[in-house]
Amino acid sequence: MQNEKLEKIVSLCKRRGFVYPSSEIYGGFAGVYDFGPLGVELENNLKAHWWKRMVHKRRDIVGLDSGIFMSPKIWEASGHTKSFSDPMAECKKCNTRIRVDKFLSEVGVFTDEKISEEEIGNLFEKNRKKIKCLNCGGQNFTKVRKFNLLVKSNLGDFTESNSVPTYLRGETCQGIYVNFKNVVDSTHMKLPFGIAQIGKAFRNEISPRQFLFRLREFEQMEMEYFTRPDGEMTEYEKLKDYRWKAVLSLGLKEENLRWKKHDNLVFYAKEAYDIEYNFPWGFDEMEGIHARGDYDLTEHCSGSGQDLSYQDPLTNEKFVPHIIESSGGVSRLFFAIICDAYSEDELGGEKRVYLKLKPDLAPIKAAVFPLLKNRPELVAKAGEVFDMLNEEVQPVTFDDNGNIGKRYRRQDEIGTPFCVTIDFDTLADNTVTVRDRDTGRQERIKISELVAQIKSKL
Ligand code: GAP
Repeated sequence: MQNEKLEKIVSLCKRRGFVYPSSEIYGGFAGVYDFGPLGVELENNLKAHWWKRMVHKRRDIVGLDSGIFMSPKIWEASGHTKSFSDPMAECKKCNTRIRVDKFLSEVGVFTDEKISEEEIGNLFEKNRKKIKCLNCGGQNFTKVRKFNLLVKSNLGDFTESNSVPTYLRGETCQGIYVNFKNVVDSTHMKLPFGIAQIGKAFRNEISPRQFLFRLREFEQMEMEYFTRPDGEMTEYEKLKDYRWKAVLSLGLKEENLRWKKHDNLVFYAKEAYDIEYNFPWGFDEMEGIHARGDYDLTEHCSGSGQDLSYQDPLTNEKFVPHIIESSGGVSRLFFAIICDAYSEDELGGEKRVYLKLKPDLAPIKAAVFPLLKNRPELVAKAGEVFDMLNEEVQPVTFDDNGNIGKRYRRQDEIGTPFCVTIDFDTLADNTVTVRDRDTGRQERIKISELVAQIKSKL
């Protein structure tokens, strides 16, 4: 049942221009997806929702847009060049690579990121009989080795052998940590305060999978909040509460969301929770909220030789700020939103599929239809209504193709909340019908009230 839902969602996303597989005409490119005309609208709406809540509505948070490329020293100081890795083995028969920790967890053996290459290799040996290659069913694998996920590039490296690699950022937050001092020096921000950023991140994921869930190129929305050491946990609880409410305000059903506490914390972390969403295969991580202590700034103090401590202007105390983090992926949230909105029902005796998106997130806010496309007076009036509406509520679409029923179904499937039809009565009395996506109910309203009516529901 659940895989069936996943297939339907993937198919709808492709068919209606939300998400396309990357480089499709060349046979595809794993771990990357392209967002089509409707996908980019939904994605932008999700990012705008996040930015509004995480920056514009907060006096204590500012935004940032740091480079995708940064000094490779940053990734050394943060520990990524050494230990940002996943355990990998390769099927000797068909060369398919597997992520060993994921395969072990499927047979009930749980590991964490602290486990050594040798320890996980031993666990894999012990459980080898239970593990099969997903591609060919083979059970003969190479030795387990840890594979670093940072994506290397030759930007600024003219050695041909790529011996001085730079990295595409593996997470956006490092750009925030290294700009902490710049923000303190160039703004009036005083602790506690946060810096937020949305941007691309890249990871050499061994087995990108489950549609938009695990990609090699994706976008993150991260907010790092800098606190006094003794304020970290109070702020952490506030951030957890704030993010939970923000996620609910997107219209996700509460029964499809839950908190998951991390059992195995990295040594510097005080607490870590994920917000999980009930994806078609079950609950899985959507975003993380972590209390990271003073690890990040301390490491960048040692790595850069700069003093990144903060002096409290009231008490003159000097300390390295602690950090709490909220970190989510745009594509994972996008996927959760589509899964949650995907609905099937029967309307007027006909089966239909519709996306029950919150109106303000819908890629198209309203569709305008002339009842008949071969009546110039209806088409001209519909054009006027379209121009008027599109001036105030963007984006609006115009559709005169096929019968009205078909046009409704097309808009339902992409989540357009309102369809406005111009008919012969419109020519006589300047009224239109507005049809509601979820109920199918139609209401006759004056054109002069249309903008206000639709705006009030967005
Ligand atoms: N700065 C902390 C950090 O990056 P993470 O748990 O590795 O933590 C945070 O990633 C979020 O980024 C995840 O909750 C997820 O939403 C998203 N994310 C991580 N890896 C991803 C991938 N390969 N594909 C899509 N989204 C990913």
